[in-house]
Amino acid sequence: LLKRSFSTSPSMNLIKNITVIGGGLMGSGIAQVAAQTGHNVNLVDLNIDILKKTESSIGASLSRVAKKLYKDKPEDGEKFVQDTKNRLKTSTDVTASVKDADLVIEAIVENMEVKHKLFKSLDEVAPAKTIFVSNTSSFSITEISSVTKRGDRFGGMHFFNPVPVMKLVEVIKTANTSEGTHTELLACGKAMGKVCITCKDTPGFVVNRLLVPYLLEAIKLLERGDASAKDIDTAMKLGAGYPMGPLELADYVGHDTTLAIIEGWYKRFPDNSLFKPSESLKQLVKDGKLEKELLEALQHLPEDNSDNSN
Ligand code: NAI
Repeated sequence: LLKRSFSTSPSMNLIKNITVIGGGLMGSGIAQVAAQTGHNVNLVDLNIDILKKTESSIGASLSRVAKKLYKDKPEDGEKFVQDTKNRLKTSTDVTASVKDADLVIEAIVENMEVKHKLFKSLDEVAPAKTIFVSNTSSFSITEISSVTKRGDRFGGMHFFNPVPVMKLVEVIKTANTSEGTHTELLACGKAMGKVCITCKDTPGFVVNRLLVPYLLEAIKLLERGDASAKDIDTAMKLGAGYPMGPLELADYVGHDTTLAIIEGWYKRFPDNSLFKPSESLKQLVKDGKLEKELLEALQHLPEDNSDNSN
């Protein structure tokens, strides 16, 4: 532990064995990238069928990566795929999978109770040296870590979808995360081929804190009839240089996800008007109308209610 705390530098990655918990969209991407970059990975999910599906989707993704990286040397590409697969094991046994872990990355469902239950049991079975991180998008890392006795060895690593493509990792340092732990997480993110930024444990960290209120404001603009969906998207692409308009992006993220994030923050910070959910978004998600249907429904709202600027 002393060695871990005092002798690391961002270029020295001491993390070799990584356990990723949750084999869904994010966990599978994180496990793939970690194995691709030479780490021994245990990928854990409760559901064996999800693990089977994940193994085959990782296989397909690795073949695509190999084709790109080893265009002229297909036999090297095959070796890369095989070596990566050899480093990646899947399991439904959480306890066994953390016994040699240097780092546990949690990417399970965004539910505080479920995360607490997992980390409480992990804290009892994982070695003292093991660092825990959560990939949560919207929860407080401090609150997640509160059920463990290793607040100094607990932080956040927030990856982006699709993980093999997106270069950024937000490394979250709580008031309890030690310098040594933080340094190790930065080194690990770098060793995974990512660019890391550091952020305190603040709602949404950097990206979602700016992005979610922006998406919400675009929906409110449309809701008020101030501009059409097409014009809002065109405006931000051509006027602000964004590659995608906010409504297209909201479509990609999924309105249920945006709403869940914003409602969680509004509950915690009711005085922050930036976090106030949009009523029509709430209704449409409740009715099970997601993504494209939201745009269609909002397009049919009356056009002349533009004075209501909330
Ligand atoms: P997902 O629903 O695709 O995957 C979650 C997986 O966790 C499922 O396969 C489920 O079977 C498994 N699981 C649930 N409880 C478990 C437990 N106790 N032990 C082991 N496995 C368990 O979810 P997704 O989208 O991958 O999100 C996971 C986390 O990543 C969430 O905290 C989310 O906020 C965060 N995140 C999501 C992003 C996204 O674009 N979807 C982006 C960045 C972070």
